[in-house]
Amino acid sequence: MKHVDAINRALSEYLTIPCEGQDIVPDAMRYSVENGGKRVRPVLTLEFCQACGGEAEAALPFACAIEMVHTYSLIHDDLPCMDDDDFRRGKPSCHKQFGESYALLAGDGLLTLAFETLASAQLPAVDICRAVQTLASCAGVRGMIGGQVLDLLSEEGTPDYALLEKIDRLKTGALMEAAVLLGCIAAGVTDETLLNSARTYAQSLGLAFQIVDDILDVTGDVSQLGKPTGSDEKNQKVTFVRLLGLEQCRMLADKLTDRAIRALEDFPGDTAFLASFARELSVRKS
Ligand code: IPE
Ligand code: IPE
Ligand code: MG
Ligand code: MG
Ligand code: MG
Repeated sequence: MKHVDAINRALSEYLTIPCEGQDIVPDAMRYSVENGGKRVRPVLTLEFCQACGGEAEAALPFACAIEMVHTYSLIHDDLPCMDDDDFRRGKPSCHKQFGESYALLAGDGLLTLAFETLASAQLPAVDICRAVQTLASCAGVRGMIGGQVLDLLSEEGTPDYALLEKIDRLKTGALMEAAVLLGCIAAGVTDETLLNSARTYAQSLGLAFQIVDDILDVTGDVSQLGKPTGSDEKNQKVTFVRLLGLEQCRMLADKLTDRAIRALEDFPGDTAFLASFARELSVRKS
């Protein structure tokens, strides 16, 4: 797929971290990152950089940083104290392979490496600062972590639309938002109108993405998904599938995808790929 080879090559370089005598955590970090994954977020970073008139290559460190944060979130999400899932990206979850302590540290290692990677970009210092602030706030307690907190607090509760939208906007939308904003920042964009259109694309796509993830948790094929099905039911999660049923969820995902595509109208560069990418993600099987 477009950009994926370049992303994987760069990730592999960043993850070559010799630490003699204590290689287990770098090994666990590599195991989880190099273990497949669709690379949705880094692809968004590179494509948004291009859509804003920048060179994709300049955004590669930012793209790798967002994938590192995303992978850390998956390692921790699978831990026994969280969703307690044993498979991820087609292989045993990080804690199944390396044990809980090292999985915890592998997540921490990826989170910190992400910021080291952002800082290494060959871009103006002011843009690197904006990227650091954006990724930190989208990944933090007002972003992804906050969404995971609400997701835990609402276990066994009754789903309602406003709560679900809030959980998904934070736990999934926030990292999508970071991905697209990092692309815009790498292209030097400061125009708030354009940044807001990027946010609208990311949040609409992110919500559709989590709805499809919840659908696949019920209807998906484990060998295609590379992670267990039935996880949400097992943990009594509140999901859009529980609130609306499968058919209405599909309609909502389509509507949100249309909204994401409409938000691309404002961009100066070619957005055809970003439009078809949104469409493909809404009908994905993994
Ligand atoms: C899974 O994300 C977690 C969600 C936010 C739904 P992805 O479906 O992008 O997982 P990978 O990166 O392809 O493994
Ligand atoms: C997790 O949502 C979102 C994260 C922030 C990791 P899920 O718990 O539904 O993701 P999967 O299904 O385990 O990939
Ligand atoms: Mg979860
Ligand atoms: Mg999970
Ligand atoms: Mg899920």
